[in-house]
Amino acid sequence: MKHPQLIVVKGKDNWCSLMKKQIGQVFTPLKWAEWLINKWNIFDAWLDGAHICDPTAGQGVFVTAMLHIARNRRIPITVDRLSRLALIEMSPSHLKRFRENTKKEFGVDFPTSQIFCQDVITEAHKGKYDILIGNPPWVNFGDLPTAYKTLLKPYFIQEGLVQETQPALLGSSRVDIAALVLKVVLGKLLKKSGSGYFYLPTSLFFGDGAHSGFRNYSADHRNFAIDTVYEFTSTKVFEGVNTAYCCARFQCDTQQEFPVTYFKELGGKWVEHQALPLKSANDPWRIVQNLDELNIGETLEIRFTPEQKPRQGVNTCGANNVFIFDHKPTHLPAEFLYPLATKEIWRQNVSSPHKWILLPYHREIGKPLTWSQIKKYDILRDYLQHHQEELQARKGTLLRASINRGNWWTLLGVGPYSFAPFKVIWEAYGKKLFNPIVLSSIDGQMWQGNQAMHAFIPCWFEDDAQRIKTELENPEIPILLRQLNGAGKCNWAQPGKIKKILSFDEVENRFI
Ligand SMILES: C[S@@+](CC[C@H](N)C(=O)[O-])C[C@H]1O[C@@H](n2cnc3c(N)ncnc32)[C@H](O)[C@@H]1O
Repeated sequence: MKHPQLIVVKGKDNWCSLMKKQIGQVFTPLKWAEWLINKWNIFDAWLDGAHICDPTAGQGVFVTAMLHIARNRRIPITVDRLSRLALIEMSPSHLKRFRENTKKEFGVDFPTSQIFCQDVITEAHKGKYDILIGNPPWVNFGDLPTAYKTLLKPYFIQEGLVQETQPALLGSSRVDIAALVLKVVLGKLLKKSGSGYFYLPTSLFFGDGAHSGFRNYSADHRNFAIDTVYEFTSTKVFEGVNTAYCCARFQCDTQQEFPVTYFKELGGKWVEHQALPLKSANDPWRIVQNLDELNIGETLEIRFTPEQKPRQGVNTCGANNVFIFDHKPTHLPAEFLYPLATKEIWRQNVSSPHKWILLPYHREIGKPLTWSQIKKYDILRDYLQHHQEELQARKGTLLRASINRGNWWTLLGVGPYSFAPFKVIWEAYGKKLFNPIVLSSIDGQMWQGNQAMHAFIPCWFEDDAQRIKTELENPEIPILLRQLNGAGKCNWAQPGKIKKILSFDEVENRFI
């Protein structure tokens, strides 16, 4: 499950309604708000005169935690001290709840002059603070409501989170709104050399493509640096959230330096590591306990042609029930049914298919069949027509472009590479072992990978496939993947990452 603060907004799909609607949210438990405050002595900084703001405050748990600590330490909550706490939040009901709770629990009328009901991204805020604390929303841009996406696009571009030349790409982007919120608040709300302390998804530091724009360490033309991170691996700070998360300290107007001090929760203890970017400055981080471990992976090199770049498996875009079968269906033309890789191949070392996938595609060119080609197969036509409405209703920017061209039977991740006779394929998602194998075909039908679960390198010759498999078996590769902090996570050995860690020698037309 994702951190679902902003995902589900039913009814009118505009950002005003989004702001006002009660939407699924995960708030920080009081205990963990206090933990973060204590970890970095934020309470003492407040007593010493620092102005503190939670820029996406929800029901104000971080401010409540400050008041709790004051009460426990018998420190009076004075008007002066209150005047140095501020909350920004887009949902008025949360702020109302905060004021009611503060009155009930502490007998304090929290000053309305320090409560700002606004969108911190799109609306200007005058205040400047010494310290920002909180837990920004964690939601993929692609999962936001359409109208809000449109509103936010220019801000993503402005903050360098997506290239100006590729704004269309943003539609399907996995860039997290947390990256945008952070850049906006660090760049606009902090006083000179101010600092920020946040709970965050670790993907900001370890995600390959989507978050490289976050890792330019610059917000609104000001440098920012991350100096310490605590990654939770077994403690459940946020119940029911599967996204990997951490908390981190940011220092504004400071150049990013490496290594970053990186504490990882291991065996119930915080174990100190060092974090450094893989190669260039905005690369994902790798973490090591000892800097000697960085020698790993320096010489990994594999020859492949441009057509052989690593790929994800086929994506039905939510229509697995239409395209994927547990048994090979006898009622559909066999030439469009392909064996689909499943975990059994790696677990049980079997190469008989446990699932099949329907690809109504022209295998020579890797393009969807035209409707007139489909019509030549009555049963295929009837089957697809039976599911037409469902297939046409699928979402996603790239897929919609194809559906709008009339090809509502399209799948994503299908091209000439899908029909290469050999694939060097591995499990790419949530694993800890890197085990590439060679798959060819069953009765002339090529094996397919399943979405992000599998990644593969297409090969047109068996000896080439065997060579690449052998080269991928280099024991340094899983060590490097673990350093890139993907073990057990969704980005364990995804194509972009494999491409990045291996310096591929792109040999043009090697197989011609
Ligand atoms: C994960 S919750 C965290 C709330 C609180 N800081 C906590 O830790 O419990 C994120 C909050 O940000 C608010 N939010 C999301 N986008 C916002 C925006 N653009 N401006 C202001 N608030 C926003 C949501 O309404 C939600 O209450």
